[in-house]
Amino acid sequence: MSNQLIDPFGREINYLRVSVTDRCDFRCTYCMSENMTFLPKKDILSLEELETICNTFVKLGTKKIRLTGGEPLVRKGILNLIQNLGKKIGNGLDELTLTTNGSQLEKYAEFLKENGVKRVNVSLDHLNPNKFKEITRWGDLNKVLAGIEKAKSIGIKVKINTVALKDFNENNIVEMIEWCSSNECDMTLIEVMPMGDIGSENRFNQYLPLSEIKETLSKSFKLINIPKKTGGPAQYYKIEGKNIDLGFITPLTHNFCETCNRVRLTCTGILYMCLGQDDNVNLKDILRNKGLSYLENSLFEAISKKPKGHDFSISKSGINISSNRHMSVTGG
Ligand code: 5AD
Ligand code: SF4
Repeated sequence: MSNQLIDPFGREINYLRVSVTDRCDFRCTYCMSENMTFLPKKDILSLEELETICNTFVKLGTKKIRLTGGEPLVRKGILNLIQNLGKKIGNGLDELTLTTNGSQLEKYAEFLKENGVKRVNVSLDHLNPNKFKEITRWGDLNKVLAGIEKAKSIGIKVKINTVALKDFNENNIVEMIEWCSSNECDMTLIEVMPMGDIGSENRFNQYLPLSEIKETLSKSFKLINIPKKTGGPAQYYKIEGKNIDLGFITPLTHNFCETCNRVRLTCTGILYMCLGQDDNVNLKDILRNKGLSYLENSLFEAISKKPKGHDFSISKSGINISSNRHMSVTGG
């Protein structure tokens, strides 16, 4: 057997996304309800268990690990995990990255840099402090901007993730692109995905197809399609005269699965082979009940069950939760 994780469709799985906690210090309206119930500690993988699983993936050919959440930097002891995974860079691992809401980036940027993190994705859905508060409920825009500034000033590349939301930021995307361009940040626009109950909010009301945004943008900018392949769902464009790569993540309108190179580990130790399908393997049970020696085989077995593609859907009348997992548990 090859020592690499290759799925039944010949896709080499070399990218692991790990949600290290479901907790977050924001409450974005499209992500969770304000009184979100978080998971009990016993259900969450310990940092040691997380590290063991990451190391096994690296041993089997994983080149890139992204830590997500929830907000990864609110997990107690996370710096330890970052430090230990950082040591794997150049030693099996090519890249360690984070997706963060930026609330604590100013404080931790130096540490991240010292431990080999060269790029972070920061979620930012609006540049107006009041609107930012409205969407995140608990967030402080100035703190996030200070974090972005700090990271950039020490040479960490920042990519901005913006969820396109109807009647919220659809008329501000041009301004955000200008901001990213002058702040040397790439940007990815994301369509709202039907993941997890969000309380009283309705995702159909939030859903804004990126095809509409693209059309609006082409009135202000010349978008040039670039063949940047990351194995992920984004399509990339350059903007004439601007210093920015602009990605569009359109899981509901576009099929991106042929080049999928990734799997996702939840903070509860469930390995999901596809963001939009429920096929999974419980690595926590394997580690806790069977032991480490079973882990490698379980990963091969899991990858042999990776589905060909997803089937998200959203409609006015239909159920808009095609997956009952929250993004904060599975990781974005
Ligand atoms: N749909 C789309 N994007 C989401 N995110 C969180 N929940 C959702 C959702 N239901 C975004 C965050 C972050 C990225 C990781 O995913 O804003 O930028
Ligand atoms: Fe937190 Fe990110 Fe969810 Fe917002 S989208 S509540 S920042 S996990």
